[in-house]
Amino acid sequence: MPEKSIFTQAVHAGEDLTKNHGAVSVPIYSASVFAFSDADEGAAIHNYQKKGFFYGKLGNPTQDALECAISELENGESALAFASGMAAISASILTLVKSGDHIVAPESMYSTTSIFLNELNEKFGIETTFVDATTAENYANSTQPNTKIFWIETPSNPLLKITDFSIVAKIAKEKGITTIADNTFATPFNQKPLDFGVDVVIHSATKYLGGHSDLTAGIMVGRKEIVEKARLHTTKLYGGNIAPQIAWLVLRGIKTLALRMERHNQNAFVIADMLSNHSKIKAVFYPGLEQHKNYKIAKKQMKGYGGMIAFDVGGVEEGKRFVNNVKVCTLATSLGGVETILQHSASMTHATIQRERRLKTGITDGLIRLSVGIEDAKDLLEDLQNALEKI
Ligand SMILES: Cc1ncc(COP(=O)(O)O)c(C=O)c1O
Repeated sequence: MPEKSIFTQAVHAGEDLTKNHGAVSVPIYSASVFAFSDADEGAAIHNYQKKGFFYGKLGNPTQDALECAISELENGESALAFASGMAAISASILTLVKSGDHIVAPESMYSTTSIFLNELNEKFGIETTFVDATTAENYANSTQPNTKIFWIETPSNPLLKITDFSIVAKIAKEKGITTIADNTFATPFNQKPLDFGVDVVIHSATKYLGGHSDLTAGIMVGRKEIVEKARLHTTKLYGGNIAPQIAWLVLRGIKTLALRMERHNQNAFVIADMLSNHSKIKAVFYPGLEQHKNYKIAKKQMKGYGGMIAFDVGGVEEGKRFVNNVKVCTLATSLGGVETILQHSASMTHATIQRERRLKTGITDGLIRLSVGIEDAKDLLEDLQNALEKI
């Protein structure tokens, strides 16, 4: 049977009407422990010879429904849900490396992932080489005999840099290295990294998968062997598992993922276009604009370009004045919700970083990160244009 449209998949993924008395909404199983019918069944489930649940930290039926849903949407063999995106990121890495190993990762990406990678080096001697990931060959050039992971984040946070999945995955396969892609910004609506040969996909489900700025969660999805090792070993030792109530909320969010993403894509494109023609804007970063440095790669691997835009309004004062003058948009530091949120990096997320270091990573004084919501584009355009008048 041909694959169903993602609009249909998002509504039904993870549902099994033969279970749970036909409940159309998967019930929330709060139980932290599950009973066995006899000792043999207990042994079989404990030894993973029979699928079943026994301890909440290692899964429950609500979490299982979410994991089935995301496996279907990302075309993954297996999935594992976590309490946050960082729990998924740290667990995926810790599942694959030991002291003395080496990782290659983008020099421009979500800052907490970089901080985690630096900490692995300082504390455990697991070194990361940070490369310009917009040139895929840089991964090959930085590979060492002890390299275990190629980390990819595309489009990247906050500068919307693009990495070519196919090339990086091909280099990795030739060298026996595992590829992990953070797909938080694009979501499976816009791109499916596993289809391009990537081994594991990570999400901060706090963002678009949840979609309503009312939960924190993370997802790991991809090759079964790696995901199940993370479940049975890493999660067992380090925890970080998702709560059943949150798993249910993420599942509910996913039902409208396609609808929301379609609108995020449309709104963001209109806004990026307006910004790129506005006299007060120094630069716009949006992979759907033909002027974007990696537009061709984005076009090849993305179906839509997402709701995230970065743009430069000049200096620190202009940045502050701009965010202080929006009325419809909300000044906050997360992203991926139905509401439009924006932040001025130099005075907010990157305020504690020394200016020279910040500039080196491309975070200019007037950089604004905009998470375009699903409001009417007309109202958003008017709000942004009015705020630009004030700088
Ligand atoms: C691209 C990306 N990955 C991962 C994370 C971490 O997610 P969480 O905040 O759920 O731990 C974030 C958070 O902003 C993010 O933007």
